[in-house]
Amino acid sequence: MIPTPSGKKDISARIEQIRQRYGKDLVILAHHYQTDSIVSHVDFSGDSLELARRIPDISARHIVFCGVFFMAESACLLARPGQQVYLPDHKAGCRMANMARQNDVERILTVLKDSGRSVVPLAYVNSSLAVKAVVGRFGGAVCTSSNAVRMMEWALARADSVLFLPDQNLGMNTADLLGIPGSQQFLIDIAGKTLQSPEARSARILLWPGYCPTHALGMLPSHVQEFRRAHPGCRVLVHPECTPDVVDLVDGAGSTAYLIKETEKAALSGREKVLCIGTEYHLVNRLTKRFAGTIDVRPLVKATCPNMEKITLPKLLATLEGMEQGEGAVTVDESLKSPARQTLVRMLEHCKPAQAK
Ligand code: 13P
Ligand code: SF4
Repeated sequence: MIPTPSGKKDISARIEQIRQRYGKDLVILAHHYQTDSIVSHVDFSGDSLELARRIPDISARHIVFCGVFFMAESACLLARPGQQVYLPDHKAGCRMANMARQNDVERILTVLKDSGRSVVPLAYVNSSLAVKAVVGRFGGAVCTSSNAVRMMEWALARADSVLFLPDQNLGMNTADLLGIPGSQQFLIDIAGKTLQSPEARSARILLWPGYCPTHALGMLPSHVQEFRRAHPGCRVLVHPECTPDVVDLVDGAGSTAYLIKETEKAALSGREKVLCIGTEYHLVNRLTKRFAGTIDVRPLVKATCPNMEKITLPKLLATLEGMEQGEGAVTVDESLKSPARQTLVRMLEHCKPAQAK
């Protein structure tokens, strides 16, 4: 049920009371795609990399994560003993992460290994903990959209080829940035029927056929062309989950943190009047409101992530009120923890803050 304005005020007041009551024992984190009403109640909001980096420094007993399921799972992996992570709606899963299932990833990696190929898996952080555990057991790591280039280099230094999963678009955009020609990138099929083809065998980058519906289906070259016609000379920046044909047309692609930083820089320089951002609409709209009067921030399209939107104020309140009874608590399979954590640790160690993009 959508709360009325007065109901919303009441819920907000109750959330703040609980935050005050718990003090240092409670930390609320949010991904940049959360709605403004959620973001107004959090201790910290960030992109996937920033959020993962925060976890090891948190000493609070309760960590409430406003985002999607894989993010809360990653927080569980990096949390200390005695800490509990919560997600206000466990149905808030990432649709792209759900496109790579543990059994399929394990089967494909086993076929590749048995055929004598030297392949390292590199999983986008938008993947389940079970998939990260498989990737860890096969010697791989994770990456985020902030450090995909560095991590693909890391993987290529360890094997002849990389299996990049689940986002084919981030994989292709990253390989393009590294100058790996399209002829050395190969989109696999989950059944594995084409894995032994000459094209697959000679590819340096094997791509899992996953994608983000919000970015890959919602943001098209025609949207960029339309914006350019209406605003000649104005810049367009997008998230690298967009397809390469969109990324090829724009002025820059990067993580949500990159898109925010670029907007801040543009507003500060005062040289641009209009800036177009292609990513989830709640984030773009927040930038539009924040910089109104300084720079006109326009969304490429008003595309939202339906699962990020599942985290609402009433659900956040219900989690906070029920934490002691385990409401919203995220638990992870202990046997998967160690190999899955390894993948995150490999990334965090290879991409220490000063070196990250
Ligand atoms: P960022 O790591 O850029 O925040 O992206 C996460 C995500 O899910 C984008 O769709
Ligand atoms: Fe997953 Fe796409 Fe939503 Fe990001 S925007 S959480 S990639 S479905």
